[in-house]
Amino acid sequence: MLIALLNDNLTLLLAIAAGVLCVLGLQGLSHPKTARRGNLCAMAGMALAIALAFVHPSMEAYGWVLLGLAAGAVVGVPLARKTPLTSLPQLVAVFHSLVGLAAALVALGMYLQKQAFGLMEAKLALEMGLGAAIGLITLTGSILAALKLQGTIGGRPWGWWGRHYLNLGLGVGIVACTAWFTLTFSPVAFGLIFILSLILGWTLVAPIGGADMPVVVSMLNSYSGWAAAATGFAVESPLLIMVGALVGVSGAILSYVMCHAMQRSFISVILGGFGNAEAAVGEASTTPSKAAALAGTEDVAYLLNEAEQVIIVPGYGMAVAQAQHAVKALTQQLLAKGIEVRFAIHPVAGRMPGHMNVLLAEADIPYDLVEELEDVNPRFAEADVVLILGANDVVNPAAQTDKSSPIYGMPVLEAWHAKRVFVVKRSHRPGYAGIDNPLFTLPNAALVLGDAKEIVEKIGTALKAA
Ligand code: TAP
Repeated sequence: MLIALLNDNLTLLLAIAAGVLCVLGLQGLSHPKTARRGNLCAMAGMALAIALAFVHPSMEAYGWVLLGLAAGAVVGVPLARKTPLTSLPQLVAVFHSLVGLAAALVALGMYLQKQAFGLMEAKLALEMGLGAAIGLITLTGSILAALKLQGTIGGRPWGWWGRHYLNLGLGVGIVACTAWFTLTFSPVAFGLIFILSLILGWTLVAPIGGADMPVVVSMLNSYSGWAAAATGFAVESPLLIMVGALVGVSGAILSYVMCHAMQRSFISVILGGFGNAEAAVGEASTTPSKAAALAGTEDVAYLLNEAEQVIIVPGYGMAVAQAQHAVKALTQQLLAKGIEVRFAIHPVAGRMPGHMNVLLAEADIPYDLVEELEDVNPRFAEADVVLILGANDVVNPAAQTDKSSPIYGMPVLEAWHAKRVFVVKRSHRPGYAGIDNPLFTLPNAALVLGDAKEIVEKIGTALKAA
């Protein structure tokens, strides 16, 4: 047996090492320069954790585990390879749903086993109840979030009268059933925990609109961590408790930071859009902003050539067009002409945290040209030209002026203060939140219609000739 190779102390030491590697992974992810190292550390930590699970004294069913690993690899590897960067948030949401499902299945399996041998006890029942409840809320919540992000069911918030009472009732029901299960080990109570939690996951996420979906995904990330930690208590695995708590806490901190960045109430978002969903429901308009002026790539090149200060605002469209390398080439041209270039990054531009930073880093655009929202906003007034590449919601002035807008209160990049604003996009369609953008019709703004990569390349060619 493999277990003979390790004694208890060494196992514990290696478990702590795996936990430390996961902490180093999180620390590395805090900056683009160290993100790759962080990922490698976290992967090494997880590999060590899996290896330790294999040598656990209670480990017997090697065949089944290897089969599970092989099945996961067969599905997971091609999925991860094929999924474009722009669809990563929905893939992550699907992964969270699997963590939730795993936590609930482990709780169910343990219950069937312990109940059959009369080994149930109150502490274990509480841990199983919590693991199953949080896991199943994560399961349905994540599936709904993934469907919304994928656009399969539309990203708009769904509102219905009394939903807060429904969520409150479901929450109270789950707590009551968990207490009932803890005291009696009743299969009915356990079954009710499953049913109520599955419903609550759905009803919590349904009223949350697309613009708040980044927060929801990181919140579900946090839930999946807590579900894993509760399962860790049930199966008496300190490593699972440690890693689950790390995911739970880091997801909660990320949700809080994102709420802060978007001026959303953390409590309101985690309680299913409490308080702001009424304003959001039904407010989104899909009327295109047809009155916007149009400009050609030569016009943009001419004004860029005359400019002293240029700010580039990348958004989701730059990711779709994979325009980052063309943007790098244009940046080099501008810098070579002695023009000052900055990149303005909004915390939720694109479809995942750090999306724009990743793309700019991939194209080797120097970090010192990249500025965050609060640093760059005062600079727009001095900019001669702002080039918006496939960004929409993150530059929408309605966030500051229109109280009925679903994005009202979200900090935005104040591009409209610049002398000239060019917005590169393919059509008059709105952005992710599905609302009009009054920026496009301002007198100093014009749309340059087309795919971001092609337009940037054409601007570069025109700039060479200028
Ligand atoms: P959006 O508001 O989604 O706007 C993107 C724009 O890019 C669209 O108006 C689209 O217009 C244009 N576009 C798409 N493909 C293009 C292409 N190939 N070439 C040129 N333009 C193209 O993007 P944003 O300003 O980056 O804001 C992000 C939004 O997503 C926010 O509402 C945010 O809350 C939400 N969100 C963010 C995240 C995270 S964590 N970042 C996660 C989920 C959701 P056309 O169709 O007319 O081309």
